[in-house]
Amino acid sequence: MDYEILKIEFTGEIAQVKIDRPKALNALNTRFFQEMAEAVKEVSGNDKIKVMIITGEGKAFVAGADIAEMVDKDQQAGSEFSRLGQKVFSSLEKMEIPVIAAINGFALGGGLELAMACDFRIASTKAKFGQPEVNLGMIPGYAGTQRLPRLVGVGDALYLLTTAEMIDAQEALRIGLVQKVYEPEQLMEEVMNIARTIASKGPKAIRKVKYVTRQGMLSDFESGSRLESEEFGSLFKNEGEEGMRAFLEKRKPNW
Ligand code: CAA
Repeated sequence: MDYEILKIEFTGEIAQVKIDRPKALNALNTRFFQEMAEAVKEVSGNDKIKVMIITGEGKAFVAGADIAEMVDKDQQAGSEFSRLGQKVFSSLEKMEIPVIAAINGFALGGGLELAMACDFRIASTKAKFGQPEVNLGMIPGYAGTQRLPRLVGVGDALYLLTTAEMIDAQEALRIGLVQKVYEPEQLMEEVMNIARTIASKGPKAIRKVKYVTRQGMLSDFESGSRLESEEFGSLFKNEGEEGMRAFLEKRKPNW
């Protein structure tokens, strides 16, 4: 598939996916979801890539689902559009490698839902966040009602979901919706630094730590802990042996 909305750049072991439809503030339409599904496949199929970054072109990360595409849909088409977005966002969450949202501007509605499907979020001081769907007589459709309370707790989630208030990066940092905030000119450099840090770690350990953490969030403590023990064990006589020997021999590991 030729990408019209996404731009994908590979730098060493890092893939950067930029959403590039600034005239509509990168609003999410059907074409976007088809391209993002393709990008997930392409990046997942490239064994060299260890981290993926998602960002937006212009003044928005993503200003939501495409209202112009949604306005004429009926109930069935609306639910299908929701399921399409949920499926693609969930495929991001299930990628083996970490996915970072680099939030350059507005992350509203479906845009915040996209950011929340990433493994963590790094924002520019210019970023703005919100779930403004109730302004449109709508509710989130890409699992925002599910991910937001899991990330920030029910109180802050329902505050944002019911007031539609737009918050700035400092407030997003305070409630734990984003992990770091940088000046706009530094955002991509800092996100690349974080990505390079992750790429320098044991590659199997990185994939397993994401898998166990994500699985644990979907199950109970005991099952998550059991899975942790299995995956912990699987790294012995494996990548973990090299990492531990390198430590003891005071050298860099040779992954
Ligand atoms: N869908 C379609 N087009 C959008 C859009 C969206 N979500 N957001 C912005 N645009 C378009 C505008 O219509 C405008 O197009 P024209 O130039 O052709 O008029 C262009 O992008 C620029 O937008 P503005 O002129 O409005 O820019 P602004 O700087 O004055 O305002 C903004 C920025 C506050 C983000 C404002 O654009 C806005 O409120 N956007 C809508 C935000 C929103 O409600 N998002 C939730 C969508 S519903 C959803 O996401 C459901 C879901 O969970 C699945």
